[in-house]
Amino acid sequence: MKRPVKNNIGWVGKIDWELRRFHGHELSTHRGSSYNSYLIREEKTVLIDTVWNPFAEEFVHGLAGEIPLEKIDAVVANHAEIDHSGALPELLSRIPDTPVYCSANAVKSLRGHYHRDWNFQVVKTGDRLALGDKELVFIEAPMLHWPDSMMCYLTGDAVLFSNDAFGQHYASEFLFNDLVDRSELFEEALKYYANILAPFSPLVTKKIRELLSLKLPLEMICPSHGVLWRRDPAQIIEAYGRWAAAYKENQVTIVYDTMWDGTRRLAEALARGIGQASPDIRIKLHNASRSDKNDIITDIFLSRAVLFGSPTINRGILTAMAALIEEVKGLKLQGKKAAAFGCYGWSGESVQRLNEGLKEAGFEVMGEGLRALWNPDEAALKAAREWGAALAASF
Ligand SMILES: Cc1cc2nc3c(=O)[nH]c(=O)nc-3n(C[C@H](O)[C@H](O)[C@H](O)COP(=O)(O)O)c2cc1C
Ligand SMILES: [Fe+2]
Ligand SMILES: [Fe+2]
Repeated sequence: MKRPVKNNIGWVGKIDWELRRFHGHELSTHRGSSYNSYLIREEKTVLIDTVWNPFAEEFVHGLAGEIPLEKIDAVVANHAEIDHSGALPELLSRIPDTPVYCSANAVKSLRGHYHRDWNFQVVKTGDRLALGDKELVFIEAPMLHWPDSMMCYLTGDAVLFSNDAFGQHYASEFLFNDLVDRSELFEEALKYYANILAPFSPLVTKKIRELLSLKLPLEMICPSHGVLWRRDPAQIIEAYGRWAAAYKENQVTIVYDTMWDGTRRLAEALARGIGQASPDIRIKLHNASRSDKNDIITDIFLSRAVLFGSPTINRGILTAMAALIEEVKGLKLQGKKAAAFGCYGWSGESVQRLNEGLKEAGFEVMGEGLRALWNPDEAALKAAREWGAALAASF
């Protein structure tokens, strides 16, 4: 195999160095990504997942360079999302009768995407596919992060093919976690969790318990994006365990938008007040319309408290803050405190609107918030510093 993973397992995916946006324009991928596909050549030959459809031809060509396609006995589709199933039409047009092992939900979503009747073989948790001496054991993982999501485990080699779980959007020529920069790797793994898996944290906790209760030996975790967890694979399971449990560090994140800098000046005064009252707390400031949305969300995920700011515009809030509130509502973050602030000129609804949004998003809102009329003067900035210091005491 050209890119060996372990024994008879090889990597046959695609490294996408250029990718900067994923899920349409929803998710930034500063370090690119990879679509990991695995070929297992035991007595039986099995392909696990494919790649995103722009790379379908390249993928099938590369695969045919590894093995005559008709030698593939089975394809496992762990997840129907296009970044992993995208090359199935191209591949299966060459080997149309090959069985496709997937969850019952994946039959629906694969049909929903490709409108073809492939040779689907529905499997559920605990079902096994004999490959010779080794077996592939299927483990459904519904809503991690689609209804169809599934993992599989190769006995003997003790390798878990976890699909999106434990993945990172992280392009690297190195295949394995022990060969890449650890802080980069964890930055991407955390961003992936915060932005994609956070809404499903209760299910993550349950699935980890289930996986651990199986007491399977685990030598490697092979996700469908990024590098493979070869050294100490348990570390990413432990990290997920922590992230799924109302995770917070000693951090406060202040996110605001502004038209004429008044709300920015309030934000900076708040930061100063908090910093003076709590010198140990890490403080992050973001202008919501300038910072990368997903970096903001990762910072919010890390925080024990967030402060959202917007001036009043047409009796409401600026759209970057409205979009951010919509986003955090979907993430269902738990155990975080919040407060709102903003400048106004006459009616001044923004703080109230921010408070409502924060409550709806599940934050524990502290107090009524802070408003400042027009551009804040020294007295208003002093009040903001003092309010920040008072808030810091209750984070
Ligand atoms: C287009 C526009 C619409 C506004 N609509 C309102 C409003 O409905 N109610 C209000 O109290 N202030 C309104 N304002 C006034 C702003 O809230 C005020 O100028 C505030 O100081 C701006 O804060 P900033 O410096 O953070 O942008 C509006 C300002 C603009 C430019
Ligand atoms: Fe996915
Ligand atoms: Fe994916």
